[in-house]
Amino acid sequence: MQSTAIEITGLHKTYENGFQALAGIDLEIKRGEIFALLGPNGAGKTTLIGAICGIVQPSAGKILVCGHDNVTDYRAARMSIGLVPQELATDAFESVWNTVSFSRGLFGKPRNPAYIEELLKKLSLWDKKDEQIRRLSGGMKRRVMIAKALSHEPDILFLDEPTAGVDVELRKSMWAQVRALQETGVTVILTTHYIEEAEEMANRIGVINKGRLVITETKDALMKKMGKRQMVFVLREPLASLPSVPDYTLALEEGGNKLIYTYNAHQDDHDISDLLEKLSAQNIRPREIESRQSSLEDIFIQLIG
Ligand SMILES: Nc1ncnc2c1ncn2[C@@H]1O[C@H](COP(=O)(O)OP(=O)(O)OP(=O)(O)O)[C@@H](O)[C@H]1O
Ligand SMILES: [Mg+2]
Repeated sequence: MQSTAIEITGLHKTYENGFQALAGIDLEIKRGEIFALLGPNGAGKTTLIGAICGIVQPSAGKILVCGHDNVTDYRAARMSIGLVPQELATDAFESVWNTVSFSRGLFGKPRNPAYIEELLKKLSLWDKKDEQIRRLSGGMKRRVMIAKALSHEPDILFLDEPTAGVDVELRKSMWAQVRALQETGVTVILTTHYIEEAEEMANRIGVINKGRLVITETKDALMKKMGKRQMVFVLREPLASLPSVPDYTLALEEGGNKLIYTYNAHQDDHDISDLLEKLSAQNIRPREIESRQSSLEDIFIQLIG
């Protein structure tokens, strides 16, 4: 089996009005990954997903979906994909069961009630199977969209802002459901503005800004690469002014009660005892030392400037 789910090379998209939404995307997504595309409004997330799913026509570049070229081998490529679009659109008067079954039929897949039943149970929709969609809550509607997207047993699921406007509790249950999908072997690609969501769910994160992927890393590597660590020295007596210690980036906090030393997380060779000695020589002796790490949020802001 192909180990790569998605392979994108040199992808550009300029819309008819001349706006360049994608400015050269190269990206490979492995099978079984949960990949989060993180970026601000208008960054190009939906355009990128549209291009992979064959809804947006690229201006240049090549996209392989499970090894199938999504232009020359469109049907096979599309068959491998389930898409939950950003804008939810469902037939309000249809029942959950019918909507999901019909969606499977659209892909030319033979009927499989056992599969649909399993899917609805997995998404906690089984007790709503005969309900008209208009009678469901927003969160349930979103889950129906996921069931529809999975109705034809695709290998890859795209979730474009799956938890926009969803409350915290439901968001957490969606995260759990997505993880459960991953365990069944589905590759999940989601977009989000919520850093917390990317941090919580993804194995790998791609940050997109102005049509370019500014970084693609595993979550841990991202933190390591970009993360700043801080050592907080809680002082016995407040300092009136910042001590001068060459080679160390220091700052004062809380009215001089805390001295903060900032360094890069990937800098392994820093030696805290050296700094302590230098401080001690100036008669500064910390009562306590704490360490802090910058969050993904800080990193994100750093990246998109
Ligand atoms: N059909 C279109 N014609 C012209 N420009 C478009 C079209 N669709 C999108 N754009 C522009 O392309 C850019 C990227 O849009 P896209 O929808 O991909 O962003 P996004 O990252 O999904 O944003 P959001 O987080 O708000 O969903 C935006 O500036 C948008 O206005
Ligand atoms: Mg979007």
